[in-house]
Amino acid sequence: MKSILFTSILLLLIGCGSDRDQYQQEQTEEQTLRSAFEGSFLIGTILNHRQIFGQDQRGQDLAVREFNAVTAENVMKWENIHPEPGVYDFDAADTMIDIAEENGMFVVGHTLVWHSQTPDWVFYDDEGELLSREALLERMKDHIETVVGRYKGRVHGWDVVNEAIVDDGTMRDTYWYRIIGEDFLVKAFEYAHAVDPEAELYYNDYSLEIPSKREGAIRLVEYLQENDAPITGIGTQGHFMLDFPDLEEIEKTITDFAALGIDVMVTELDIDVLPPAFDYMGADVSASAEMREELNPYPDALPDSVQQQLTDRYRDIFEIYLRHSDDITRVTFWGVTDGDSWKNNWPVSGRTNYPLIFDRNWEPKPAYHAIIELAEEHR
Ligand code: G3I
Repeated sequence: MKSILFTSILLLLIGCGSDRDQYQQEQTEEQTLRSAFEGSFLIGTILNHRQIFGQDQRGQDLAVREFNAVTAENVMKWENIHPEPGVYDFDAADTMIDIAEENGMFVVGHTLVWHSQTPDWVFYDDEGELLSREALLERMKDHIETVVGRYKGRVHGWDVVNEAIVDDGTMRDTYWYRIIGEDFLVKAFEYAHAVDPEAELYYNDYSLEIPSKREGAIRLVEYLQENDAPITGIGTQGHFMLDFPDLEEIEKTITDFAALGIDVMVTELDIDVLPPAFDYMGADVSASAEMREELNPYPDALPDSVQQQLTDRYRDIFEIYLRHSDDITRVTFWGVTDGDSWKNNWPVSGRTNYPLIFDRNWEPKPAYHAIIELAEEHR
């Protein structure tokens, strides 16, 4: 880490520091996550629609005070930013980027090419027939050129392709894959790079701690590299549970990807404290289960014993992240407070979960203090 710090100071001195360096160099007086992790890696969060437009101003205020990187939770997904052919809605993304710039935050665009939250019209022609490979590539290119082009120089990193493989490490059967073939990823990276050559470009996925999926993702990154796709980093989402995955697998995920010579980042960190609704441990948004009382054991408050487990789990995980801070460029939480988390509604709707480090009253939880302490020790 110290070598990165030295390098970034040197780069700043000669006037060509990267965007990331610039956001890590600031000085803040009050103690916050952004000051505690300065010099280690960027520390990020997401903003939802209500926070962007100030209906949850406390959430927005907390986010910009504590974090130095921001990802749009939903407002840059295809169905939101490009809901109909030729119709773009940039309002929420524009507003989020204005907020980020006012507060000196690194901006991540999420996400350009995904099988989910992409309207069906994207894959069909006017006669209702599936598009040809060439026509779908043209549509993908147009979308990427429009969105990346609009935010050139303002969005610093893009989740170019999201969740393209499944747990056994093979390619996910999506319209993108079926119609275009595996090189849809190469093309997506090429199109994004052509529009904004300065932007960092990532492949982003969950459950990379499962060995078969991780190995598939490694093969995918190698395939992209062999085909000269301009990938700069991998996002390991980090949707974890109290007892899954093992710490060894979390650490191996970081070291294995770093060995490929790309940046590694944790892009969607949260820790589910509720009983699993079924065996599946991933983050497939289409999975769902019925509510049963035993699946929602803490509707009013988190018992101290579970709070302690959550704190210990965050401490253990951040020990790993700090140990590998030379390889990790950013750790982003998937939500500002517990009340905002998608985990309250997935895979069971209407539960009360506690997966983050700020509570429903915008107050820091013991896990917040634990990771700040670790970060301070690491400096
Ligand atoms: O805002 C609309 C509202 O107008 C509408 O009435 C209501 C009815 O369904 O839906 C609301 O939109 C919901 C949106 O979240 C905002 O709350 C969508 O239905 C719901 O599908 C959407 O869920 C998001 C999910 O991705 C799918 O896009 C979650 O907030 C978001 O946290 C989650 O994030 C994903 C990452 O993008 C990729 N990795 C996994 C991660 C967790 O699933």
